[in-house]
Amino acid sequence: MSLQNFIESLDGLLDEAKSSLDTVASNEQLEALRVKFVGAKNGAIKAVQKLMGAIESEHRPAAGKKFNEVRDAIQSLLDTATDRLGGGTKTSNEPSVDPTLPGVRPVLGQLHPITQTIEHLKEIMGRLGFNVTEGPEIEDTWHNFVALNIPEDHPARDPLDNFYLATAKKQAQNPSDRDAMLLRSQTSTVQIRVMETQPLPLRIISLGRVYRPDAPDATHFPMFHQMEGLWVDKNVTMAQLKSVLRLFATSYLGSDVRVRFRPSFFPFTEPSVEVDYWWNGNWIEFGGAGMVDPNVFQALGIDSEKWSGFAFGLGVERLCMRRFGIVDIRDLYRSDVRFLRQFAS
Ligand code: PHE
Repeated sequence: MSLQNFIESLDGLLDEAKSSLDTVASNEQLEALRVKFVGAKNGAIKAVQKLMGAIESEHRPAAGKKFNEVRDAIQSLLDTATDRLGGGTKTSNEPSVDPTLPGVRPVLGQLHPITQTIEHLKEIMGRLGFNVTEGPEIEDTWHNFVALNIPEDHPARDPLDNFYLATAKKQAQNPSDRDAMLLRSQTSTVQIRVMETQPLPLRIISLGRVYRPDAPDATHFPMFHQMEGLWVDKNVTMAQLKSVLRLFATSYLGSDVRVRFRPSFFPFTEPSVEVDYWWNGNWIEFGGAGMVDPNVFQALGIDSEKWSGFAFGLGVERLCMRRFGIVDIRDLYRSDVRFLRQFAS
């Protein structure tokens, strides 16, 4: 390629740039022209630059000088048009952000109040020597009922009070069916699982979800959490059960909390109690407890003459609500971050 032709094509390019950039009327058009003339990949300037290699070497310095002039001229035409259109993407060195402005704080997530409560409960019970274990949320009737001394005809097994699952094995589930599966209705299932697998003595807690088909209201929700506790050893007594629950309540709710034990009945404990705390002029039940029933030990092949134990099951939501001053359990599960953010850990 001759120097003459090269210079002519550069002049032609500059003329074209001038006429189009002097009249460009929108930022979108301007951006298209920017790509057309100085685009890094297929821009016209790039294309002309490639031609330079075909110029005889003695003319190359002159070609390079002309090339630089035209490239700078097109760049300043682009800058002028950018200024005229009031901004857009500037190519000059002027910063498009103001670095003196204060920064924007990133929004951090936080733990759900129930998760915070669970962590807190684990810590308190850990100090009392209880190890944390877990059990499955989908259970069989052995762990949810049979081994817990809840016989086949017991109303607690009613399909209206439990979420039985339509498993692949059988579509319509009959609660007396040995193969029936359900969403566990209580964490007491974990008592059985632990005594089946761990050597005695043992002292465990288990925190997790349980499911009951209750209509949601301010104090009921079809899914909630329980903290199960189990202590099996030689000579474990009811007095120890009461001490542990009192210690727990004062650690979690404050030393001025009032706790009450009421005689009650559970198939898997004997004797059994219900545990209440005093709040806003009312006794609020926060769980059940008792001495492990010998029938439970027997179902697991544990000698009830040699071993004794106590168990308790506490409602995690009730504890959480009292501590945080939450009055409606449904608020915990609406996933409204404006509400949940109030309970920062
Ligand atoms: N599982 C019982 C319930 O859900 C609570 C409980 C646990 C009672 C352990 C006694 C012992 O109501």
